[in-house]
Amino acid sequence: MCGIVGYIGKGNNAGEILMEGLKRLEYGGYDSAGIAIVRDGALVWEKTAGKIEQLQEKLKGVDISGHVGIAHTRWATHGEPNRANAHPHFDCAQRIALIHNGIIENFQTLKKSLEAENHHFVSETDTETLAHLIEKYYTGHDLEVAVRRALERVEGTYGIIVISATEPDKMVAARNGSPIVMGIGEEEYIIASDVAAILKHTRQVIYLEDHEMIVATPDHFTSMTIENEYVSHDVQEVDWDLEMIEKGGHHHFMLKEIFEQPETIKNAMRGRLIPATGDVRLGGLDMNEEQLRAVKRILLIGCGTSWHAGLIGEYMIEEKARIPVEVEYASEFRYRNPIIEDGTVVFAISQSGETVDTLAALREAEKRGARCLGICNVVGSTIARESHAGVYIHAGPEIGVASTKAFTSQITVLALLALVFGRLKTISSSEGQKIIQALLGVSDQVSEILKGHDEIRSIAEKYYHHNNFLYLGRGANYPVALEGALKLKEISYLHAEGYPAAEMKHGPIALIDENMPVVFICPRDNAYQKIVGNICEVKARKGKIIAITNEGNSEVVELADHVIYIPKTLDFLYPILAVIPLQLLAYDIAVLRGCNVDQPRNLAKSVTVE
Ligand code: G6P
Repeated sequence: MCGIVGYIGKGNNAGEILMEGLKRLEYGGYDSAGIAIVRDGALVWEKTAGKIEQLQEKLKGVDISGHVGIAHTRWATHGEPNRANAHPHFDCAQRIALIHNGIIENFQTLKKSLEAENHHFVSETDTETLAHLIEKYYTGHDLEVAVRRALERVEGTYGIIVISATEPDKMVAARNGSPIVMGIGEEEYIIASDVAAILKHTRQVIYLEDHEMIVATPDHFTSMTIENEYVSHDVQEVDWDLEMIEKGGHHHFMLKEIFEQPETIKNAMRGRLIPATGDVRLGGLDMNEEQLRAVKRILLIGCGTSWHAGLIGEYMIEEKARIPVEVEYASEFRYRNPIIEDGTVVFAISQSGETVDTLAALREAEKRGARCLGICNVVGSTIARESHAGVYIHAGPEIGVASTKAFTSQITVLALLALVFGRLKTISSSEGQKIIQALLGVSDQVSEILKGHDEIRSIAEKYYHHNNFLYLGRGANYPVALEGALKLKEISYLHAEGYPAAEMKHGPIALIDENMPVVFICPRDNAYQKIVGNICEVKARKGKIIAITNEGNSEVVELADHVIYIPKTLDFLYPILAVIPLQLLAYDIAVLRGCNVDQPRNLAKSVTVE
């Protein structure tokens, strides 16, 4: 969502460090940006609608040196993305500058009472209310006290960083519902919403919990609850490095991340497979055999691509472990009256570990007594920390807004989970060994598919001017169809629908004519013969057929206009392979249409608002 970064240190290069940090946060939100530095007892600031390059333009010739400052990249929630609504926001006296990620829910009430006290507002944002509220309580030399008093009156979510022109040796941050991490450098501290802004300077970090604050000076920090009780934090070491968040020679982060998948899939399995016995060890689950056997029902919750991974997980776990699985959108789950019985285990699937709906659903499930586990990528993220235990997918930083490598790592971990439960219930050691062998082959098979990128690009060249696409699959490949369609929508702004192939005749078939490209995911699995029938139905109506299948599937080759081959694997592992060409197809179409692949309009990498 919004990216926030604050700096305090003994040097004079706050502006430079903040702008660089902002660049690394831009993927989170990018409709406006701003910066404020304290210099000579006053605030020097600039903000603008648009991307960080626009802010850089505006700052040309402006001296942004200083030893304390804050910067923000926004994804609008209240008020359109313009200069006035961009952060930082200020009090009336322009002494206090504040940046915020989250939503102040009671801002209208607060704003009214502050206006009645003659506070003058210049933006339509919820955030500005907080700047004025702090001003109300500020005496000029106790910023943390004023922040605390203001936060006591606030309802909603926030990750905030506040500075004051009259206390240039202080930076205050607080968190409730939106991530705050602080990097501890040599005589400097960097506070941000994401470690990406910190990594260049230090790997030593602490994560704030909800209702906690931090007060940093150039050489010291203290942390406490909003109620002013002292808290101590373990310093943790981040194991991602800077190179992992650079583009590595690719034109876009998304392409880099697609091409990383042979490695990231391996990472998701590393140290977890026991080929000799056909077992899987997922220590992160923190459950013994007896507890695992006692699991009667599994709920998978997530949003967007993570929800699609859950749908595939449902096929995998039910098929291999015979445990009933339900998959729910986190946003729906949290507002229902969900039934959690004894023996129900909930897995929250989230790349970022910060998606607010998934987090709220997890909390709801915890409240109702379920054992809650996370399947997250970002180590130390809120979901990872708040769940009872969990399994990291170890995909490394995913910067492209459209999720790719996290998806294949999520389904790889779900396959491992199916095997963990399956081996306790229905799968023999020899079947386990067979599955592990197949899993071990997946990474090379993905590399093979990636070698066919040129062919996929040539298909994209034929179809990028079409306005509608249909994606069809059966069984575990139906969610792959959903994911393929989502990728195209997200980054090309084209209408695309994913459907179970057999359902096509109950509606979407009406759309088919010579202008409708239909992507079939049809490897030779147990649904293959059936889906060939569906391909014939499209062919009969002159639809254009792009088929993803295995070598030697002659019926498909004869029917399809274009064929993309994927190697053979076990039926339940096909989704990992089949989604790769769909990611590339979406990527190529978006590039051909001139779209901003890594930062698609209106979307955010991590959605920390409802
Ligand atoms: C946003 C992103 C998607 C992602 C979804 C869930 O919509 O743009 O790519 O799948 O959030 O995010 P999570 O971090 O919880 O997996």
